[in-house]
Amino acid sequence: MNDLLSLTRAARLVGVPRVVLQKKIQCGEMVSFDGMVSVDSLFACFPDVQIEDTVEIERISQIKERAFGKRVFERALPDVEVLAARVTELSQSLAHSQSQVKQFNALFNNLCGKLDETGCQADSSVSIENLKFWIKDEVAQVMEPGFSNPLAIRDNMLRVMAAQVTVLPSGHDFLVEGQDTLLEAAMRAGIPLNYGCSGGNCGLCKAKLVSGQVKKTRHHDFVISENDKNQGCILLCSNTAVSDVELEAPVAGSVQDIPFQQITAKVKAVEPLNADMILLHLQTPRTQRLRFLAGQSVTLRVGRSFAAELPVASCPCDDRNVLFHLRRQPGNLFSDYVFERLKCNEAVELEGPQGEFILHEKSPRALYFFAFDGGFAPIKSLIEHAMSLNAGSVHLHWIASNQDNIYMPNLVRAWTDALDNFHYTEHVVGFDLRSVSGKRAESLLKQLEIIVDKDCRIIQSDVYLAGPESALNTAEQFFLGLGLPKTRVSVNQVKKL
Ligand code: FES
Repeated sequence: MNDLLSLTRAARLVGVPRVVLQKKIQCGEMVSFDGMVSVDSLFACFPDVQIEDTVEIERISQIKERAFGKRVFERALPDVEVLAARVTELSQSLAHSQSQVKQFNALFNNLCGKLDETGCQADSSVSIENLKFWIKDEVAQVMEPGFSNPLAIRDNMLRVMAAQVTVLPSGHDFLVEGQDTLLEAAMRAGIPLNYGCSGGNCGLCKAKLVSGQVKKTRHHDFVISENDKNQGCILLCSNTAVSDVELEAPVAGSVQDIPFQQITAKVKAVEPLNADMILLHLQTPRTQRLRFLAGQSVTLRVGRSFAAELPVASCPCDDRNVLFHLRRQPGNLFSDYVFERLKCNEAVELEGPQGEFILHEKSPRALYFFAFDGGFAPIKSLIEHAMSLNAGSVHLHWIASNQDNIYMPNLVRAWTDALDNFHYTEHVVGFDLRSVSGKRAESLLKQLEIIVDKDCRIIQSDVYLAGPESALNTAEQFFLGLGLPKTRVSVNQVKKL
């Protein structure tokens, strides 16, 4: 049994975000070995964890997933063959440990015998007797029945329920649970692996299995050449992990890695959020999903080719169900069509994605999001993605022209209730944020100053701003003026607000 755990697995065991463990390692509270931590050092840092907490951690995970409206993940058991293989592996490890304990006991008895012999031959029998008592005492304490590191027990349970995947050369890792394929599990964890159809047809998700065991979960039409098979190539959308595995696969690191796509989606729902805002829910065909990075936009065409570029308001972890927020703009052909005529099941053409307003995933800093009115749409996508990545501290300031423009209050409340690391504040300025100059600009600056005065950690963080151009110009200048470098202030001007 391997006592060293990846940070993903360790974080899951104690129910905290990875970043909490990273901070403990940085400040020397926890020792790491090549980015891994031992079960013992994890327990030393989290001594209050009990085995029974597993149920609570699972419950909180499910609440989080529901709060983020993810593809609902029922905690199904893995496939029977997968379970059998994992139990067999654990049984082998247990048998090996038991055999070692037996050998250790035999060795210990031999040692006592040798000490007896030595004691009879020499005058030092008293000190040898003392030494024997000391050893027996120490061994009795170590072997005392009843104490078991609860994290070790929980880790064994997790190993039966979930396998770990490490992606090379990027070093990303994630867990495969239930009956997820490798691709589904990677997307759930916010890791943008290469893929196309998700259905075994295109071959774009081909990856090389470096170590570990996988199991095919479905037939695929794409034919893997003999040469690729010999190299260990598999399709991520058609296999699950049986044991912990290592894969060689490219991970999209920038917007240039995401191909331009044209997809005909269908309207799943058009739901009013308030009198002037709607939620447009599109569903792509099962075999042609939309690949995008959180925060990016897409061009939509409806009716007689009325088009608009809109930020995606959902997480890339659910690539079939793509959400948009749209404000009513009387006289705008696209807006009029969507508000007055668009029906369920109607076709909508999607083109894209576009835009570079994406998360700096490698940054260790806290995340501060500022959504101005409808700028909440791309911010929502970024926050959902950040939560998939198990990000640390996430702060949302929703700054609105009026109370109606905080158009999803229940959602942000649900996030606040479900997540300890999510902090939300709303601000209503009382003027139109699409037209900010003169006194309005002064008023907005004052509002931003108050926010920073209350929480000066913003200066050390990554700041993301989205909303109408006029408000963004003022806000961007404000944060740059505080000394934040341009690389830490990301701006997304949302046109249709
Ligand atoms: S994504 Fe197309 S074959 Fe896997």
